[in-house]
Amino acid sequence: MFITLEGPEGSGKTSQLPRLAEALRAAGHTVLTTREPGGTPIGDQIRKVLFDLGNKSMHPRSEILLFQASRAQLVEEVIQPALAAGQVVLCDRYADSTMAYQGYGHGVDLAQLAELVRFATGGLQPQLTLFLDISPQDGLRRRDADGNWNRLDDYDFEFHQRVYAGYQELIAAEPQRWAVVDATRTPDEVAAELARIALERLQSK
Ligand code: TYD
Repeated sequence: MFITLEGPEGSGKTSQLPRLAEALRAAGHTVLTTREPGGTPIGDQIRKVLFDLGNKSMHPRSEILLFQASRAQLVEEVIQPALAAGQVVLCDRYADSTMAYQGYGHGVDLAQLAELVRFATGGLQPQLTLFLDISPQDGLRRRDADGNWNRLDDYDFEFHQRVYAGYQELIAAEPQRWAVVDATRTPDEVAAELARIALERLQSK
């Protein structure tokens, strides 16, 4: 089963992912965790280019293609082999991030983007996508307090509001694939809720 985690900046995905993996392992599943962009040696090199504060002149089309290049490599090298071996794959961000950030955030044509994403993934879609729900205000405040600022956080606040609204549209378009979890609660409460939803979905498979 292929499960992805999505959410705005500061939603806590990255700290929740290993906890969710542990909960699924405790229930007897073999779990592989990975993240985007990155997750492979080639993808990690692409990640460095994307997040380099010196790359201010990066064109939006270049950015889109670099995200897809990293994703294509990850699907072929990591995700598909793990799924073929019967593992549960947990991925920190996936195709929905391209639709939310590049599509709704930057206003790139959604149909064109969807086509590029299909090309990059070979059509592989997650069966379950967990959305860690936090408003852009609260998320950016958390991220700022952590001191984890990078090139992509520098985009203006309206951008993050468009991203958030975009996620809401993606969720509304495919409600059976998404599960929305309130990410403003304590980390323990969020972890318990994520585990409950994922285990329920795995059992009903
Ligand atoms: P990262 O440092 O991994 O942070 P986070 O914990 O928020 O995931 O940064 C990922 C950034 O890349 C985040 O700002 C979202 C962005 N992104 C896109 O814009 N498009 C994409 O397709 C992906 C995968 C990520």
